[in-house]
Amino acid sequence: MKILAIETSCDETAIAVLEISEKQNSPKFNLLSNQVLSQIKIHKPFGGVVPNLAMREHRKNLPIILARVMKDVRRPLGRRTSKFNAIAVTSGPGLEPALWEGINFAKDLAKKWRVPLVPVNHLEGHIYASWLRRISPQFPLIALIVSGGHTELVLMKKHLDYKILGETRDDATGEAFDKVARMLKLGYPGGPLISKLAERLKTSGKGLFPRPMINSSDFDFSFSGLKTAVLYYLRDNPNADKSAVANEFQQAVVDVLVKKTGDALRKYKSKSLVVGGGVAANKKLRSALENMIKKSFPKISLYISPLWLCGDNAAMIAVAGYYRFKAKKFSKNPKTIRADGNLKL
Ligand code: KG4
Ligand code: ZN
Repeated sequence: MKILAIETSCDETAIAVLEISEKQNSPKFNLLSNQVLSQIKIHKPFGGVVPNLAMREHRKNLPIILARVMKDVRRPLGRRTSKFNAIAVTSGPGLEPALWEGINFAKDLAKKWRVPLVPVNHLEGHIYASWLRRISPQFPLIALIVSGGHTELVLMKKHLDYKILGETRDDATGEAFDKVARMLKLGYPGGPLISKLAERLKTSGKGLFPRPMINSSDFDFSFSGLKTAVLYYLRDNPNADKSAVANEFQQAVVDVLVKKTGDALRKYKSKSLVVGGGVAANKKLRSALENMIKKSFPKISLYISPLWLCGDNAAMIAVAGYYRFKAKKFSKNPKTIRADGNLKL
C-alpha cells in the first residue's frame, strides 16, 4: 500500500510518499519521495518563525512540492501513481495557521482521490521516524523527543500507546538553544550554530552552568533557569569566549537529558531507546546517548533518528499515519479533522 503524507506544523513545507509491503506481519517501508522546503531564510530576519508568514508560504509551496513528489513517484509507480491508499496529515501540535494550510490541502486531495484522511500528531511522527530503519524498535520502549517546541520522555508499551513520563515545565530544549544563540548573537535557528561553535572545544567544560532538575525524582525538565544563568554570566563577563559559553550551555543540557533518559530506561525495563526531533541532530547529545547505552545498558538498542529525519519532514508523518491507518485510529469523517496547536500525544 502507499501513503502520501503532508507536514506543515512550523516552517517546513513537506510532502512524502511511503510504500509499505506487509510480509509476515512485519511491514517493510520504501520511501519513494521525501520533499522538504525550508522557510528558514524567510523567518531569519525576524529571529524566529512568524506564523502568518509561515501560513502564506505553505499555501504557496504545497502545490509546488506536490508536483515534485508526483514526479518522484511517477517512474517507480508508473500508472499506479495516483492510487494512494490514504493521506496522512499533521493536525498538531504546532502553529495553527500553518497546520490549517496542510489540513485543508490534504482534505481537498482526499476528496478528489476518494481516500481516507488520517490525522497524525507531529510528536508521534518524530518517534516513528525510527521505524524507517531496517530493524524496528522493540517494545516496551522509551522515546525522548527534543524539538523546538517540546521535550518529552514517553513510555510506549505497544504501537500508538503513549504514556508521558515527563516533559518540560518551561522552555523546550530547542527553544533554549535558540534563545541562548540569540544572547550570543549567533542568529537563527540557534541549535546548529551553538553546536558548531561548541565543537571547536573538545572538552566537556568546567560545569559553569546549573543542571536544572537533574536529580529530581520525576522525569520533568526545566531549561529556563539555565537560560537565565547564561544571561547573567554574559552580563557579568561581556568578553567571555562565545565558544566556551556555547560548550558549557550545551553540556549542561546534554547532561540533564542523558541522566533523565537513563533513569527512565532503568525504571521501565525498556528494550529500545528512540530519540527524535530537531535537537536529536546535536552531535554532543548523540554521542553522549551512545556512550550511556554502551556503558550502562548494553542490552538496549538505540534508535536516534538519522540526521535527515531529525528536522521536520513528512516521511515520519507517513510512517505514523500507516500505523494509525492499520489500527483504524482515525475519524471516518474528514470534516471533523481540525488543527490543534496544543495537541497532546
Ligand atoms: O523538530 P524541529 O525541526 O521542529 C519542531 O518540531 O520544533 O526542531 C527544531 C529545533 C530548533 O529549536 C533548532 O534550533 C533545534 O531543533 N536544532 C538543534 C540542532 N539542530 C536543530 N539544536 C541543537 N543542536 C542541533 N544540531
Ligand atoms: Zn518537529
